[in-house]
Amino acid sequence: MFNVIDYAIATELNNYELINTLANYLQMKICCIGAGYVGGPTMSVIAEKCPDIEVTIVDINEKRIKDWNDEDLNKLPIYEPGLAEVVKKARNRNLFFSTDVATAINKSDIIFISVNTPTKSYGVGKGMAADLKYVELCARQIAELAEGDKIIVEKSTLPVRTAESIKTILKHNSKGNRFQVLSNPEFLAEGTAIDDLYNPDRVLIGGDQTPEGLIAIETLTQIYARWIPRERILQTNVWSSELSKLTANAFLAQRISSINSISALCEQTGANVNEIARAIGTDSRIGSKFLKSSVGFGGSCFQKDILNLVYLCNHFNLPEVAEYWNQVIKMNDYQKQRFAKRIIETLFNTISGKKIALLGWAFKKDTNDTRESAAIFVASALINDRAEIQVYDPKVSAEQIYSDLEYIISNSETDLKLDDIRTLVHVHNTPYEAMKNVHAIAILTEWDEFKTYNWQTIYDNMLKPAFIFDGRDILDNTALRTIGFEVYTIGKE
Ligand code: UDX
Ligand code: UDX
Repeated sequence: MFNVIDYAIATELNNYELINTLANYLQMKICCIGAGYVGGPTMSVIAEKCPDIEVTIVDINEKRIKDWNDEDLNKLPIYEPGLAEVVKKARNRNLFFSTDVATAINKSDIIFISVNTPTKSYGVGKGMAADLKYVELCARQIAELAEGDKIIVEKSTLPVRTAESIKTILKHNSKGNRFQVLSNPEFLAEGTAIDDLYNPDRVLIGGDQTPEGLIAIETLTQIYARWIPRERILQTNVWSSELSKLTANAFLAQRISSINSISALCEQTGANVNEIARAIGTDSRIGSKFLKSSVGFGGSCFQKDILNLVYLCNHFNLPEVAEYWNQVIKMNDYQKQRFAKRIIETLFNTISGKKIALLGWAFKKDTNDTRESAAIFVASALINDRAEIQVYDPKVSAEQIYSDLEYIISNSETDLKLDDIRTLVHVHNTPYEAMKNVHAIAILTEWDEFKTYNWQTIYDNMLKPAFIFDGRDILDNTALRTIGFEVYTIGKE
């Protein structure tokens, strides 16, 4: 196929508007490898906003693709408010989900890589560095299968200089095709992904500062510029773009760890962490966002990206910088431990045989994603002390909950056996069932529906004293105390 870059280079074209018109005329095709929490929503929105561009999302996981193609939109593999509507509009119009990676690579002008990059669980950098095996696999596949020149876009969060590795792999394996590698990190947050994609604070596109690189940057810019004001699309060099993503997540996580550290002090002194957050957040230099104290941050990005940053700093012999950021993770671990310890101590230092209801398993509300959720840590600490757990989450499946626990138990030092999990943990479909005859309730995710429950009925059906541990501070403490609950909330005496 006639290629945009070819044409622009051949004609020494420097007129971006013309490139755009040309790209439209050429009916650009995009594919994305990885139909996950990032690839799925991002590509769906691109397809919705650019009806003339054919967008194909491919994944090696057949079940996932089958679910993306399910007639019943409630069966999409990802729960994300607004996503089903977008998929409904674009699917089979110009948005396609497939397992045929080779064809998608071949026919696309732009290939996004959005596969997962977990923290390495083996070898050099174990527990710290990102495992890039899937990204590398994608690069090799592209090099092998591509016919024609392509723009490759890193969407996965990657350590700085990964683009360089991708480029090297492409260069040494390609059959004479030319590739431009761009970094276009994703800043969407789960639960608000669609809004974040419609109306982002900024889009970042990093690429080589060569004529070919700049044209590739501009080609991608033109896609986003269909619905995002141009001044919000920032163009940088590749490494700035890669490092900006890690830095943004590190700063956000640092704010949470900072306010969580103050929550511990509040509980000792009688100050209220919400009042402090409001008081400092009104200072326009500080700002009010990401100051909500909690049982600890989770999600697929924060911990992984900070560990990545720490690894990078150590690699470049900057131990002080590494330790500075590592402290954000340590504080988060402390917060999760503190919460579990508080439950055990309050229940008279023994929870063996006691029933504790956990409300919420997802790492935040409005998502079914449980990666690094504080709930997993708290639950494992409680069952380690032989409590019986009754879990309710509006969107997370029992299968997922058991698999999260099996993973954490297999990777920690405990005398618990995998069989114990099914004996000690019961997953319920209704909240009232989960909270029946329990000694205590812990709120671990801030789902809105928790606020609407009939707490009097729940109290009546619990063992007394009836304890509530609100790890998200979403319930009305005064009303609960009036009913008769013993209430513990993060960051309040
Ligand atoms: C993304 C980013 O890629 C990650 O770097 C970031 O930190 C978090 O968000 P996410 O979309 O959340 O990951 O991951 P996931 O939901 O696990 O989706 C990745 C998909 O890629 C999976 O469906 C997996 O099957 C697929 N995959 C993985 C491939 O298709 N090919 C592979 O070789 C590896
Ligand atoms: C984050 C970044 O926000 C996003 O820009 C990036 O692309 C991916 O990582 P995500 O992990 O999806 O997004 O959700 P986020 O809203 O950032 O929440 C992360 C965790 O922090 C959740 O567990 C949340 O409950 C917690 N959190 C967030 C707090 O405890 N307090 C806050 O004030 C905000």
